Amino acid sequence: MIYYERTVTDQISNNIFQRKEIKIMALVTTKEMFKKAYDGGYAVGAFNVNNMEIVQGITEAAGELNSPVILQVSKGARAYANHTYLVKLVEAAVEENPQIPIALHLDHGDTFELCKSCIDGGFTSVMIDASSKSFEENIALTKQVVEYAHDHGVVVEAELGTLAGIEDEVVVEAGHEAYTRPEEVEEFVDRTGCDSLAIAIGTSHGAYKFTAAQCTRNADGILVPPPLRFDVLEECIKRLPGFPIVLHGSSSVPQEFVKMVNQYGGNMPDAVGIPEEQLRQAAKLAVCKINIDSDIRLAMTGNIRKYFAEHPDHFDPRQYLKPARQAVKDMVAHKILHVLGSDGKA
Ligand code: G3H
Ligand code: 13P
Ligand code: ZN
Repeated sequence: MIYYERTVTDQISNNIFQRKEIKIMALVTTKEMFKKAYDGGYAVGAFNVNNMEIVQGITEAAGELNSPVILQVSKGARAYANHTYLVKLVEAAVEENPQIPIALHLDHGDTFELCKSCIDGGFTSVMIDASSKSFEENIALTKQVVEYAHDHGVVVEAELGTLAGIEDEVVVEAGHEAYTRPEEVEEFVDRTGCDSLAIAIGTSHGAYKFTAAQCTRNADGILVPPPLRFDVLEECIKRLPGFPIVLHGSSSVPQEFVKMVNQYGGNMPDAVGIPEEQLRQAAKLAVCKINIDSDIRLAMTGNIRKYFAEHPDHFDPRQYLKPARQAVKDMVAHKILHVLGSDGKA
C-alpha cells in the first residue's frame, strides 16, 4: 500500500488550523468522479493508452491541472502492449500523481471473459459493449458483467445505439449507425444495473467520422459535420435523471494536426471530427465521460513526422518520442481546459 501525505488548511471562525491528511494512493472507480462531474457540469476525459509515453503525457497534463482522469485500455491495446505492462505503467502514473483520482477502464469489452480478466487483473471499471447485439442479448450480457463486476467492487459502462467507425473488430459504415432510442434507456439501465451508459447521438470513431456527402464545406474547403443530436441526449437525460452518460468517438480531429501530418509526408484527406464547442455543451449536461483517442494519435504522428523531416540523421527513439509525449500532454491539457472543464476538480 502506498500512502500520500499532504497538509490541509481549515478555517473555523477566525482560527486557522493546519492538519496532516494521509491518503491511500490507489486507482479509483468512476463512481465519485461521475457524481461530482454530473453536479459540477463538466466531464472527465477518458484517454486510450497503449505505451509509456501516452500514459505519461496524459497523466502529467491531468496532474498539473489537478484534473481527474480515466485511462482506458482497448482489447487491441492489450494485444499490443500486454495487460501486465499496461497495468504497471498506470500504477506508476498513480504513484507519480497522488493528488488526482485516476481510474483504469476497459474500453469496448466485447465478451464476459475479457471483462472478467480485466476485473480480476486490477481494472476499476469495464465497458461491456454489446451494442451490436439485439436489445435482449445486450441486456443479458451486460447484466452478467455487472453482477461479476459489482461483486468485485468494479463499475460497468454499457452501450445502447451504434456509432459509425471501427470498434475493434466491428466496423460500422458511415450511414449505417443508429442513434440511441431514448424510449429504451430506462428499461436497459433498470434491468442491467449498469453504472453509466454510452449513447449514440452522432459521434463516431476514428479520424474520418463523416463522409464528404454527410458534411458541408466551409469557405476554406474544410468539411463541417452535421450537428450532434442534442434532442436525443436531452430525451435520454429526462428518462435517466442523475445518471452518467458517456460519449465515445469524441475526437475533434484538429485541422492543425491534419495539416502537420499532410505537410510532412502523410496523406489524410478530409479527416473530420466533432466540433469542440458541441462537446463542451454536452459536458455541461449529463455527459460525465468523453472518450478521446484519435486526437492523441494525430498529435503524436504529426509531431513524429515533423521531427523525422527536420532531423533526418537522428535515430535515437528518445529524440522523437520526447516531442510526441509533449504533444500528448499539450493535447490533453487543451481538452481538460477547453472541452471537458475538469481542471481543478481533482
Ligand atoms: O474506440 C476505439 C479506440 O479508439 C481504441 O482503438 O481498438 O484501435 O485500440 P483500438
Ligand atoms: P475517437 O476515435 O473519436 O478518439 O474515439 C475514441 C473512443 O471512443 C474510444 O472508445
Ligand atoms: Zn469508443
